[in-house]
Amino acid sequence: MFKILDKVELCPKIFRFRIEASKIVSKALPGQFVILRQNERGERVPMSIGGLDKENGILTVVIQEVGKTSASMNQMKTGDSFLDVVGPLGLPTHSENFGRCVCIGGGVGIPPIYPIAQGLKAAGNKVETIIGARTKDLLIYQEELTEASDILHIATDDGSFGTHGFVTTILEKLCEDGTPIDFIMCVGPVPMMRAVAEATRAKKIKTWCSLNPIMVDGTGMCGACRVTVGGNTKFACVDGPDFDAHEVDFGEMTSRLKMYHSQEKVAYDRFLEHKGDCKCQQASSDE
Ligand SMILES: Cc1cc2nc3c(=O)[nH]c(=O)nc-3n(C[C@H](O)[C@H](O)[C@H](O)COP(=O)(O)OP(=O)(O)OC[C@H]3O[C@@H](n4cnc5c(N)ncnc54)[C@H](O)[C@@H]3O)c2cc1C
Ligand code: FES
Repeated sequence: MFKILDKVELCPKIFRFRIEASKIVSKALPGQFVILRQNERGERVPMSIGGLDKENGILTVVIQEVGKTSASMNQMKTGDSFLDVVGPLGLPTHSENFGRCVCIGGGVGIPPIYPIAQGLKAAGNKVETIIGARTKDLLIYQEELTEASDILHIATDDGSFGTHGFVTTILEKLCEDGTPIDFIMCVGPVPMMRAVAEATRAKKIKTWCSLNPIMVDGTGMCGACRVTVGGNTKFACVDGPDFDAHEVDFGEMTSRLKMYHSQEKVAYDRFLEHKGDCKCQQASSDE
């Protein structure tokens, strides 16, 4: 069992969990992920590592409610435990000394950018981070990323904080400021990562992204996380989740993410109707 040491609401429907997981934390590196299962009947869901407290063996994950399982997990409280936390999974983000690096995060892609920025900084890079949200109230991890980055840039779609526009509005300015960018790492919604890739393709700036396709086993056996990168089939759970953003077939990835939308909607509606009090989410010990 993996105990929740504290749970904090970062903004509506997004919660930060700090979980006791010393063995995982001792081995984990920035850019990797874990698979969580709430209880015996729970679905296995992948979550990025949003912080590693190596000294105290504490893992941070940030969960956004988008469907049944994430809603159910976000009802857990400090002191509750996850039945399983499997990891660290996937390959870590490249953390060598590139020179000038830009880390870009959007939505729940912002927390994983935090350990990635820390890793790039520790490798001797100059790290500039760009985070974006629809509006000011949805911005998260500002304090952490201020500490981890040399400069933190913020964009909001509605202009309520920072630059009015998208992360790419800021990225385009940084690309033109006269100092070459050596490496870009982005994590966030697929349209954001696709836009970042398009903004840097012609300039040939090394741009990597962290993909979040549907995953089941997380060990390369089931094929659920299949993505096409540079014309080749890759499994994001073992070959990624990071890939060269200029090579990713984002169109295919978008359509594969929509594959189960109708079933997901039914499950979420049923969960909301029962206010989370349905047997399918209760551990057998609770029944
Ligand atoms: C490597 C990786 C890291 C991730 N990190 C985070 C994170 O840090 N925070 C966070 O909130 N979410 C993260 N996700 C997405 C998260 O796993 C899904 O949102 C979650 O599984 C949704 O489950 P659900 O039952 O609540 O929603 P569902 O109703 O099942 O689905 C809602 C949406 O989530 C997607 N989804 C569903 N099941 C999976 C699955 N097994 N794997 C991936 N996507 C799925 C669906 O395509 C759909 O768009 C990550 C996904 C991957 C692959
Ligand atoms: S999740 Fe099964 S192969 Fe990647």
